[in-house]
Amino acid sequence: MIIAIDGPAASGKGTVSRKLAAHYGLRHLDTGLLYRAVAKALLDASHAPGDEVRAIVAAKAINPARFDESALKRYEVGEAASVVSAIPGVRAALLDFQKEFAAAPSGAVLDGRDIGTVICPNAEVKIFVTAAPEVRAHRRTLELRGRGEKADEAAVLADIMSRDERDCSRSTAPLIQAPDAHLLDTSTLDIEGSFRAALALVERYRRG
Ligand code: DC
Repeated sequence: MIIAIDGPAASGKGTVSRKLAAHYGLRHLDTGLLYRAVAKALLDASHAPGDEVRAIVAAKAINPARFDESALKRYEVGEAASVVSAIPGVRAALLDFQKEFAAAPSGAVLDGRDIGTVICPNAEVKIFVTAAPEVRAHRRTLELRGRGEKADEAAVLADIMSRDERDCSRSTAPLIQAPDAHLLDTSTLDIEGSFRAALALVERYRRG
């Protein structure tokens, strides 16, 4: 079974995906880490995230087996990831890895922005996880502070809105709900409630 989870930043899609993968014993891929790794490679070398040629070279060179997830989760890396992910050559360079991950036997849970539309259009279950921008900004602020980073909630909200705009309006694989995806709004749900709602959608599929 392949479960495709898409949604904007801080919607809860990562947590829901990890919990679904653990529940069903499936492998999980947070595809945002791929774009974050490309962005970090550019930032580390003091190159602009919008430098297309260098971004494509970096995308071809990343090694997901060696990801340092906590470094990739840093705020500025996420912002730069949104920029590199709009470069079609970067997306093309990361396509095969994601498709092969999904196609390996026994299935998987993948989360990102284009899983249900581009990476796994034939996924058995597709869920588009979203939440109000203010709720997402609040969650992201608490998450950043929890990791010891400074975070001003109003600034985080402004960044979330501009990231949504960039992710939704790019020409290649924009963030969009697949026509056959279930919508899961987590604005009023906590982690457990979000997971239970997602689980109910998957179970509905499993019962036919
Ligand atoms: O989910 P995240 O915050 O880790 O993603 C970081 C950025 O990567 C996001 O702003 C857009 C991009 N991304 C993408 O374009 N496609 C994906 N499948 C996953 C992430």
